Amino acid sequence: MINLNRYTLITGGSDGIGFELATIYAKNKKNLIIVAKNENKLKYVKAKFENEYGISVEIIQCDLSVDKGYEKIIEVVEEKNFTVDNLINNAGIGSFGFLHDLEDGLEEKIININIVALTMLTKYFSRKMIERRQGGILNVASTAAFMGGPKMSIYYSSKAYVLSLTEAIHDELKGLGIRVSCLCPGPVKTSFQEKAGIKKSEKSKRYLMDASDIAQCAYREFARGKAIIIPGYKNKLLILGNKLIPRALSRRIILKNNS
Ligand SMILES: NC(=O)c1ccc[n+]([C@@H]2O[C@H](COP(=O)([O-])OP(=O)(O)OC[C@H]3O[C@@H](n4cnc5c(N)ncnc54)[C@H](OP(=O)(O)O)[C@@H]3O)[C@@H](O)[C@H]2O)c1
Repeated sequence: MINLNRYTLITGGSDGIGFELATIYAKNKKNLIIVAKNENKLKYVKAKFENEYGISVEIIQCDLSVDKGYEKIIEVVEEKNFTVDNLINNAGIGSFGFLHDLEDGLEEKIININIVALTMLTKYFSRKMIERRQGGILNVASTAAFMGGPKMSIYYSSKAYVLSLTEAIHDELKGLGIRVSCLCPGPVKTSFQEKAGIKKSEKSKRYLMDASDIAQCAYREFARGKAIIIPGYKNKLLILGNKLIPRALSRRIILKNNS
């Protein structure tokens, strides 16, 4: 039985990891609110999920990388009186190169989408969830959150913020009936890396995980209320190994890999 007014909201749900998460929720008969920039892709995904799974799909076209881009999401949800059971802050962008070489304004776009939009949506929807004493928030960071990342400094530091914020909120909302998890994937086979200008060697391409495997792991562990979700044993080992070595060595390895 589908509850018509209750939704799972996924930013960046039209492609990559977000699309795979949306597919799992759709298969589980959860209505979806999908947010992305490209309207044609959104319309395609809406028709596909509604036809294949008989759920209701709302789409919100907005650019989360611009100042206050997230406000459109809140306006639509308020106007249509939707109840958001699960918020998945998945949309994110990256960049490649030294900070001083980055095209002006790109750092601001990354901060707007990866940090500001995620924070404002988390705050807004957590208040609603607290009123109902029910809900879940899944924020997507990266294994990059655990280390300093020369040549991807803004991206790595934005994900460190996401991890730190999400861990804190996990504990703040515990006991109020709200699950909060931070998903930290390693490299994934999506168009993200290409869009960010990251060039991968043939060897490193072998370590890319499938977005569908990431989504399945995230769905399972989020349902259990796990604070930090690291998909794949190689990524778990990477994080463990990174804790055991000096941070200066970790940065040197990343700079070498990014050169
Ligand atoms: N792929 C990886 O290697 C990897 C590894 C670790 C963590 N992650 C994280 O996982 C998340 C999802 O990444 P992905 O690999 O699935 O990326 P992706 O395949 O590039 O998909 C990104 C999604 O976000 C939407 N999006 C991008 N810019 C947007 C904007 N300005 N406003 C609104 N929506 C926007 C895209 O739709 P439109 O293009 O239509 O806007 C798309 O639906 C990100 O937070 C990323 O940092 C990725």
